[in-house]
Amino acid sequence: MKKSVCAAAVCAMLMLSGCLSAEKPASDVSEENLILVGFSQVGAESEWRVANTENMKATFSEKNGYELIFNDAQQKQENQIKAIRTFIQQDVDYIVFSPKVETGWNSILKEAKDAGIPVIVTDRYIEAEDEGLYTAYIGSNFRQEGEKAVAWLESLLQKQGRTNDTINIVHIQGTMESSAQIGRTAALDEGVVRNANWHIIERQCGDFTRAKALEVMEAILEKTKDIDVVYCENDGEALGAIDAMEKAGLKCNAEDGVIVISFDATRLGLEYCLAGKIALSVECNPLQGPYVHDIIQKLERGEKVEREKYIDETQFDCFTITQKMIDSRPY
Ligand code: AHR
Repeated sequence: MKKSVCAAAVCAMLMLSGCLSAEKPASDVSEENLILVGFSQVGAESEWRVANTENMKATFSEKNGYELIFNDAQQKQENQIKAIRTFIQQDVDYIVFSPKVETGWNSILKEAKDAGIPVIVTDRYIEAEDEGLYTAYIGSNFRQEGEKAVAWLESLLQKQGRTNDTINIVHIQGTMESSAQIGRTAALDEGVVRNANWHIIERQCGDFTRAKALEVMEAILEKTKDIDVVYCENDGEALGAIDAMEKAGLKCNAEDGVIVISFDATRLGLEYCLAGKIALSVECNPLQGPYVHDIIQKLERGEKVEREKYIDETQFDCFTITQKMIDSRPY
C-alpha cells in the first residue's frame, strides 16, 4: 500500500470539517501526494520549545506537501514511545521526534525499523545500540554550547582580575538526562576542573522552566546570598533565577553584581541581556523544520543524507548586544 496520503482524501476531510472553503477548487491539491509525517514533541516547557513547535508545524504544512500528525508528550518519555507506536500503526512515511532523554529508545526504534519507517531525530540526541535505528539526526551541539559559555566566563573573570578570587557558582540544570543538560553540565564541570577558584556551591534541577528555577533559586537564597555566578541551562531558568535574586535584593549585572549565564538566546532572553541582567546567552537554534524538510526531500529522491548534523549557533553578551540584533530575531 502506498503510504503517502492522497490529497484528495485530505481535501474531502477538510471540506467535511468545514476547514476548506467550497469555493477553493479541489483540483488545486487533488493530484498531489502529501507526505505523512508523525512528529513527537517532548513538551512545551520553554519559549525555545514553543518556537520549535511552531517552526515544525509551519514547515510540515499542506502547502509544503505534507500532512503532519503532531503529538505533545508533555515531558513524558512513555508518551513519546506511545506516540511513535501510534505513528507506526498509522503507517506514516516518516517519524520525527525530539527525545526527552538520551536512553530508552532502542525497542521502539526497532519497531519503526521493522515497519520500514525512517526515523529522524531532532534537537537532542539519543544513544542507539545500532546505527540503523535512525536515519538522521539534526540538532544542537550542547557540549559546544556549554564550552562557549565557560570560555566566555573565563575571559570575563580574567579581564576583571578575578582569577585568584573565589568564584561561587550556582548551577541550575535542565531536564535531567536530556542531552541539553548533559552537554551543558559537562562543559561547566570541565571549567571547574580547569579553574581551581571556581566552586559550585549549589546544583539543582530547574527542568528548563522559569517557574521551577524561581522555586529552586528562592530555596538556595534562603541558604546563601554569597553568589558570583548563576549558570542556568536555558533562558527560562535564567529569568526565574533573576526574579528570585531581585526579590532577595541581589543585583544581576556582569560588572558589579551576579553574572547570569544562559542558553537559547530567545527574544525574551536577549531583552534581559540588553538590560544587562543576563550576561551571556549562548544560542540554541529551534528553527529545525527546514533541515528536516531537506532530509526528507533528499530521501524522497533516493539521495544519501548526512547522518548527523549540528546547526550553526552563535552567542550574545550584555556588552555587545543591540536592539537591532533583537529585532532581527525570528523567535
Ligand atoms: O533541547 C533544547 C533545550 O530544551 C532548550 O535549551 C530548552 O530551552 C528546551 O526546553
